[in-house]
Amino acid sequence: LKQITAGEEDPGIATYDPGFVNTASCRSAITYIDGDKGILEYRGYPIDQLAEHSTFLEVAYLLLHGELPTQPQLDQWTHDVTYHTFLHENCKQFIEGFRYDAHPMGMLMASVSALSTFYPDAGTIADPDVRQAQITRLIAKMPTLGAFVYRHQQGKPYVYPDNRLSYSANFLAMLFKMSEPTYQADPRLVKALEVLFILHADHEQNCSTNAVRSVGSSQVDPYSAVAAGVGALYGPLHGGANEAVLKMLRRIGTVDNIPGFIEGVKEGKEKLMGFGHRVYKNFDPRATIIKKACDDVFEVTGVNPLLAIAKELEKIALEDEYFIKRKLYPNVDFYSGLIYEALQFPPEMFTVLFAIGRTPGWLAQWSELVQDKDQKIARPKQIYTGARNRDFVPMHRR
Ligand code: ACO
Repeated sequence: LKQITAGEEDPGIATYDPGFVNTASCRSAITYIDGDKGILEYRGYPIDQLAEHSTFLEVAYLLLHGELPTQPQLDQWTHDVTYHTFLHENCKQFIEGFRYDAHPMGMLMASVSALSTFYPDAGTIADPDVRQAQITRLIAKMPTLGAFVYRHQQGKPYVYPDNRLSYSANFLAMLFKMSEPTYQADPRLVKALEVLFILHADHEQNCSTNAVRSVGSSQVDPYSAVAAGVGALYGPLHGGANEAVLKMLRRIGTVDNIPGFIEGVKEGKEKLMGFGHRVYKNFDPRATIIKKACDDVFEVTGVNPLLAIAKELEKIALEDEYFIKRKLYPNVDFYSGLIYEALQFPPEMFTVLFAIGRTPGWLAQWSELVQDKDQKIARPKQIYTGARNRDFVPMHRR
């Protein structure tokens, strides 16, 4: 539809849809969501089956290529990713330049965009081999970057990748290994982290994916596009929510304080973090899987006392008219923070974990975008509400 105007002053036909609530920005064959029925599928496969039976790299392959890999394909893909886990030494020095108390997401965002300077060929996005090389590099290097920004913040020496380990076990070792060669993550914790990465791997046109697509539509290299996604994810209404949930649970402090807190939410003083979703209006299927994963993790680590507050909060909210009327249910972030804390991550690292999990989704969406002949540079229309036709006022007359 081209602009149809009724005269020079008429801006023409436009849809005013803040936040794109009813406007599709693209066509996509990657992730299907039915928010009313609580369905989430990657390439047609239900999220609960993938979380139970797949590895994260297998799911990444599925998102990127549209099909589950055969064994030789998975072996090759795992080999390729493993080969690229190391960072250029200058990249490490770049991270060392940040303040000791810099937020890990700020460091991650800057480091991901800095990667574009290490791979100058990355901008040749019309070449499928170049695209694939950057996709492999990004998926391989995100855990290393995530671990390095964590160690930097802790003031601990960086631990290099150990490519004999699986994707998630390697990440945990880079984070927590103190002295060679003692650290070995409990396989149940490795599995829980894999599940969390899988649950976060894609979620169609969420805020950060929309940012990746929007920036990517200018045909910039994928590092710059993904850095935009990391920036979007940093915000408390998106990836920052699980950190906010923990802070909220700590502030509530005891089960007895819950009714007073709920009253404050209903009066609009604050939000119940980890509740509500733009798409899920019945339940978030990822929250159900995470709740189960909580029990597995706490079996290893011991129960987090905040879990009792979270469960009681959920129970009270789900019976309260305010939340029922607005269709507000726990989202993926309500319980994930509790697991991350049990895995010994400080709250500032939670969103970094989300970013690592979401990277295959961002790249699958980016790859789909750059191959879609119908796509145009993202450039939404606006409804102008400001002044017009004013004459410049010299300084002495203002
Ligand atoms: N607590 C209290 N009230 C809420 C909450 C909440 N968590 N979420 C929405 N509401 C209320 C709104 O105030 C609004 O009420 P009103 O109709 O009286 O004005 C109504 O429910 C509709 O909410 P919207 O803000 O219009 O819903 P939207 O779809 O735009 O927002 C969002 C979705 C941003 C997730 C919102 O529910 C929210 O802020 N939740 C808390 C933050 C959070 O958990 N984010 C994580 C999302 S999942 C993810 O990013 C992976």
